[in-house]
Amino acid sequence: MKISKTGLLSAKALIHLASLSTFLYLWLLVEQNALGADPVKEMIHFLGKTALNYLLITLCISPLARRFKQPLLIQLRRVLGLYCFFWACLHLLVFIWLDLNWEVTLFAEEVVKRPYMTLGALTWVILLALSITSINVIRRRMKRAWLTLHRTIYWAVLLATIHYYWSVKSGLIEPIIYFAICFTLLAQRKDYFKSFLKHYAKKKSV
Ligand code: HEM
Repeated sequence: MKISKTGLLSAKALIHLASLSTFLYLWLLVEQNALGADPVKEMIHFLGKTALNYLLITLCISPLARRFKQPLLIQLRRVLGLYCFFWACLHLLVFIWLDLNWEVTLFAEEVVKRPYMTLGALTWVILLALSITSINVIRRRMKRAWLTLHRTIYWAVLLATIHYYWSVKSGLIEPIIYFAICFTLLAQRKDYFKSFLKHYAKKKSV
């Protein structure tokens, strides 16, 4: 049975509801001082993890649509991807605002000095480009280049997972589980990576 347009709308409504509830949940934790001894760090962790979760869910959509022959599901990618960017922006905002007190020079130094932060920044830039070009007019104008650009989401998920792994000081089980999910999702795109490597090898031999 194919998902109807109403079914798709309900799925979108559910995504909005889940995102709003997540935001309200964090707001409540802040309001009630329930974030422990270092609330800023906890907020950064919560928002980073939420952004990564949304990124992974976004990457589940195409394989699911193909597996269950539900082409309409593809339309969920944009809303999920935009929410991922929203959480990533809040993650970055809390870090710059509440952790660094708007010390932009210190922020730039940290991004250059700490490799895990460099990877986080690269991921954020990719998400920014994907979010801007998800606007329909821009998408239409970009033609085939749009698909090439939007495939960088595969690199974004890899970079974000390494950023997470690298940022963790103890308890590696969770990041390893995230790596397993990330590689399972990227394995579905092995043709892209094969042609990417072929293209890269060809360029090097010229
Ligand atoms: C300029 C961009 C970014 C900066 C400066 C940044 C910075 C940080 C910082 C300071 C931490 C905490 C490290 C610690 O505990 O000492 C962190 C953790 C994390 N970040 Fe980022 N980040 C960026 C982008 C991203 C993006 C785009 C994602 C996901 C899509 C992400 C996901 C995460 C995750 C999952 C964690 C670990 C959370 C946990 O330990 O529970 N970050 N990041």
